[in-house]
Amino acid sequence: MLEDFGNPSSTHAHGRKVRAAIESARKKVAELLNCTPGEIIFTSGGTEADNTIIRSAVETYQLKHAISSSIEHHAVTHTLGLLEKQNVIQLHHVRLDEKGHVDLNHLEELLKEFPKALVSLMQANNEIGNLLDMEAVGNLCHTHHAYFHSDTVQTIGHYRHDMKRLKVHGMAAAAHKFHGPKGVGFMYINKDKKIHSFMQGGAQERNMRGGTENVYGIIGMARALEICYRDMDDHKAYIEGLKERMIEKLKSGVPGVTFHGDSVNFERSLYAVLNVSLPESEENEMLLFNLDLKGISASGGSACSSGASTGSHVLGALYPNSKRGAVRFSFSKYNKAEEIDSVANVMEEIYKVIV
Ligand SMILES: Cc1ncc(COP(=O)(O)O)c(C=O)c1O
Repeated sequence: MLEDFGNPSSTHAHGRKVRAAIESARKKVAELLNCTPGEIIFTSGGTEADNTIIRSAVETYQLKHAISSSIEHHAVTHTLGLLEKQNVIQLHHVRLDEKGHVDLNHLEELLKEFPKALVSLMQANNEIGNLLDMEAVGNLCHTHHAYFHSDTVQTIGHYRHDMKRLKVHGMAAAAHKFHGPKGVGFMYINKDKKIHSFMQGGAQERNMRGGTENVYGIIGMARALEICYRDMDDHKAYIEGLKERMIEKLKSGVPGVTFHGDSVNFERSLYAVLNVSLPESEENEMLLFNLDLKGISASGGSACSSGASTGSHVLGALYPNSKRGAVRFSFSKYNKAEEIDSVANVMEEIYKVIV
């Protein structure tokens, strides 16, 4: 920041040096995802990437129908909801099974009825961790000529993506989900399914996203992703161990505890997220507060909107009549087994008094 402060759009030497750093970050990200650098467009994060892909795909291909689920992130639900309100698209919700997984048979039925639709389904749910079968959905979309967008904000940096194999047209990423800087992300746009730009402005990002680049964020993000890929298998195994430990400790310490979504199914759930379902109790209201007092940072729903007074739309859709409490724990490579034990002990203490 002190030495290479040029504007990457400037043609002078200071600018060119920074441009080269951005392009090398793009090349790095593209190599990791096995795609071409031109398919990576830097954004301010996941929300911008989701908005851009959805709005621009609808506009570019004049799509009239969208198929999505009720448990997507608000970056998707609100964007689709607005397009529906403006009569640009008709929105169809795919059925979810009792664990919150997409019913692929119903998706196929919808695709047969509304071919050439926009399909927007997230790869991993940020609240309950459910994983989507991207390959199966990609194949269905391919067969029915749909545009497939997936919010991959929770999975990029945690799982490998081979863009030469996956039949997905647009994906969204946010650096802060893989230990990169906040306020930066990227979108993957398949080169054979190009979309118009969403923001009007300068010619940055190959005319796909006007505006001076977040240089330091982009370089930091590429480095963070590189580290994630380097250590992915070890970290995955380690974090899975933490999650398993937490599940076991909670099961033995907290009477009546269960888990929302498919959290305990390691094949079909994000290893970094555990959504705990707690027996009905008035103390559930104070749970996050009490955990916070003990220095434990957890979330009641999605961290993205935990400031909002409304509850989680994800849990609301899956458990409409439930009065049980919910707390979401997220684990990382920086957590220690002792921390898991102490959180589980605190939970046990709280629920010993209550239950
Ligand atoms: C699944 C998912 N999509 C989108 C977003 C929004 O990303 P950002 O905050 O980078 O805009 C988030 C939350 O951070 C998320 O968890």
